[in-house]
Amino acid sequence: MVRADAPGKIILFGEHAVVYGQPAIAVPLHAVQASATVEPAPYGSGLSVYAPDIGQTLRLESLDGGPDDPLHNAFIFPLQVALRYLQHPIPDLSITIRSTIPIASGLGSGAALATALVRALCSALGHPLFNDELNPLIFQVEQRHHGTPSGIDNTVIVYEQPVYFIRGAPPQPFAIARPFTLLVADTGHSSPTRKTVDDVRHLYETAPEQIGAIFSAIGGIARQAREKIAAGEIASLGLLMDRNHDLLCQLTVSSEALDRLCAAARTAGALGAKLSGGGRGGNIVALVDDARAASVAEALRSAGAVNVIQTVVKPSG
Ligand code: PMV
Repeated sequence: MVRADAPGKIILFGEHAVVYGQPAIAVPLHAVQASATVEPAPYGSGLSVYAPDIGQTLRLESLDGGPDDPLHNAFIFPLQVALRYLQHPIPDLSITIRSTIPIASGLGSGAALATALVRALCSALGHPLFNDELNPLIFQVEQRHHGTPSGIDNTVIVYEQPVYFIRGAPPQPFAIARPFTLLVADTGHSSPTRKTVDDVRHLYETAPEQIGAIFSAIGGIARQAREKIAAGEIASLGLLMDRNHDLLCQLTVSSEALDRLCAAARTAGALGAKLSGGGRGGNIVALVDDARAASVAEALRSAGAVNVIQTVVKPSG
């Protein structure tokens, strides 16, 4: 039996603007993860995927094609991409995939499922992949899910490192001078990223100068945040998160629930808060002093968060 895991992720700065070439910062979220296990199957039985979380079993019927629906794209398409990459015929294997990452919530569920599936399958076939090989394969899956993804989700999830990301450029690791604590709070509303990315594109086409200026302002915040993180100036990071959230509101990707959770976090003493990911649902991220983490988490639950995850971003190595 072969097993592979992949974490979730959280975008700290720069979502949406990153699609238009601005920098963004994201970190892996190890508190949630996808895991795939591969077992041999009887001769001639082909490749099947069992997803007990949703009670579904799917079969890979061919190396090409299949319906453009969410289940096929999540569970079968990544395996087709992997087998084509390895130029391997359909093997007799049975894969079980589980995930604790909520779907369509800005935590990278699609990229993490694909990463766990492709890693596990390639290892089981005797061809474990380097991350540099794996990342473009998972990007292909992201394109199938989202149309025009920036590539930030697959990059942070495959490398499992905090990244300073610019579309089309190699991922840049960056210095983290001091650990800092985040709370990730879920509105409980799912929201497909493809839709918010499409809506932002329409907005940009309607008012390119005005919306382009918002993208540039968000990019400026991501650049400043990188410097603050490298200098260990954590308190001023909170202010940058608040400003980033305001700009995302102007891009129409916030929601009443996201605004409510951000406000509740700030009132309870968070240093800053913003929506994270595609928006209109999913999660917010709040920066907190350790001493305040429990009371801010409680305030988030009282304000309607269905789940609150605490995570610490640490210097790597
Ligand atoms: O909602 P998520 O976790 O898939 O994040 C999307 C981030 C966007 O910047 C909105 C889109 C992208 O491809 O970068």
